[in-house]
Amino acid sequence: MSDDFLSKIDIVDIISDYTTLKRQGNEYVGLCPFHGEKTPSFHVSREKQTYYCFGCKRGGNVITFIRTKEGLDYYDALKYLSDKTGVELPEKEEKGDVKKAKLVNKIIEMNTVAARFFHKNLRSAYGKEALEYIKKRQIMPATVKKFGLGFAPDSWDLLIKHLLSKGYTEEDILAAGLGIRTRSKTLIDRFRNRLMFPIFDVRGNVIAFGGRVLDNGLPKYINSPETACYRKKENLYGLNFARKSEQNDMVIVEGYMDAISLYQAGIDNVVASLGTALTARQALLLKRYTDNVIICYDADLAGQTATLKGMDTLAEKGCNVKVITIPEGKDPDDFIKKEGAGAFRKLIEKADSLVEYKAKVFKKQCDMETTAGKVRFLKMVAEALSKIDNRMEVEMYGKKIAQDYDISPEAILSEVYKDEKMYTTKNVQPPSNPLSFPSVESKNDGTENERRLLILLAMDNDYIPEFYEKEGDSFFEDNDHLLIFKEMLRSYRDKKTVTPAMLMQMVDENKAALFAQVLQTTHFESKELIEKAIDEAIRKHRLAKTERQYNEVLAALKNTRDDETREKLKNEFAILNRELKKLKR
Ligand code: CTP
Ligand code: MN
Repeated sequence: MSDDFLSKIDIVDIISDYTTLKRQGNEYVGLCPFHGEKTPSFHVSREKQTYYCFGCKRGGNVITFIRTKEGLDYYDALKYLSDKTGVELPEKEEKGDVKKAKLVNKIIEMNTVAARFFHKNLRSAYGKEALEYIKKRQIMPATVKKFGLGFAPDSWDLLIKHLLSKGYTEEDILAAGLGIRTRSKTLIDRFRNRLMFPIFDVRGNVIAFGGRVLDNGLPKYINSPETACYRKKENLYGLNFARKSEQNDMVIVEGYMDAISLYQAGIDNVVASLGTALTARQALLLKRYTDNVIICYDADLAGQTATLKGMDTLAEKGCNVKVITIPEGKDPDDFIKKEGAGAFRKLIEKADSLVEYKAKVFKKQCDMETTAGKVRFLKMVAEALSKIDNRMEVEMYGKKIAQDYDISPEAILSEVYKDEKMYTTKNVQPPSNPLSFPSVESKNDGTENERRLLILLAMDNDYIPEFYEKEGDSFFEDNDHLLIFKEMLRSYRDKKTVTPAMLMQMVDENKAALFAQVLQTTHFESKELIEKAIDEAIRKHRLAKTERQYNEVLAALKNTRDDETREKLKNEFAILNRELKKLKR
């Protein structure tokens, strides 16, 4: 934990570079820098050193902010803040992460050396065939340069020798994934006789490579393995260029070639997911730059499946998703070469919304000639529609699809709202249990309560030992929360201060947002109030636990016929019931 470092940086100053903040009572409020909005719902607290957006529910401390906004990892975010403010990086932080950071830097350095080597080969005697291939695929020299394309010669160890001559060891070469060990233990180049595509991170560092055969050989591509600096599922090819585009949306294609080809034709807002269905991490990465995403995958079955999956992932993260289907089963690379950028832009304009695309796919899966097929189609569309939060959109798309497929709009919409009606008009049957005691419904989510408690303890560290004596660490059921508490206890014993903002650093982005949400409704006013709030959190937690046990015993009673066991259970039940009444007060 970098308490000293954080305490020298002011979140209001940092965030003011991204959005105009106005003072409002104890807080600063402005337009959210993460999602487009017209009325401010983004709150920053100088006192707590945290932010939270009521609109998109993002929140965290200054480090989470920089990580999300600048697309940096934890270590780089610290460096960024240090460069920006002149506050020196905490020593401990450097020591702790320095080994990994050094390895990452070294691999990037080696990859850069390799990329230069591959690129140079294109203009040497080795590269003749590759250059011809590049020409055949209509990639212009300027594009070759921009994307740093290159060629790995048909040799076992040219790159390895080059790297060794620069002072890197065999171990380094293996760690970078540039070499592989054969069964006879010799080290050979991973990429041989292949057109090379360097893979960049958002900042333009070479973090990996893809290598394509020059003919129809298999496998078509060989890629770098996962290394200390490359996680395939967390990166998007071309984002380093696309993020600078003036467009306010982003086109996602499948392959290296598609991305390069579109970029060359002037569609500069393009990234490639490199042949995998889009992951949640990639969706979040994209969301740092835009909410409007257009999927443009191959029209084959694999492409269609990946599209459906990717759409849901993106929609879940709050993106507006559209889909382009390229006519005649061509891929984006073919299309743009034959039809040009203008035609591609027209496709973007006409792109299907998420539900429209799904309806198209469903239609192929249902026999629309039969009534049964039509009913099935209607149900599938209704299910897709019911996933949309916005009621107006549901109605709009419902009507549009009704029109396109010649179904009555009422039929679709009533199917969408079917579950809702059931929910509101349903008669709740009282559970028939032997003791005529109803089971209790827990109102508070235990984990939220645990978060509140950790925040309260971070607001006043003096209660940490007291809480520990009273509750021990069996209080926490969420493992992350338990670890945080242990860390807090350790810090307290080391006479170090823990602040609410620091809690967010100990968890991932999603959990940090949850903490920020709780923090927004937790106020530090006086010692007594904190003390009261802690007691209240403990009471709620016990209540939730007791309710759970009560329900368990109740269920056991229902299912037990054995008299002796029943007697025991009844005793337990009576105790729990009394305890429950006490806790409910
Ligand atoms: N891919 C891969 N390994 C393979 C095949 C594909 O890693 N054996 C990934 C590559 O990132 C590739 C993407 O999946 O770019 C899409 O595959 P495909 O459409 O087959 O390749 P293209 O890049 O479109 O190549 P080309 O147009 O040259 O056939
Ligand atoms: Mn392709």
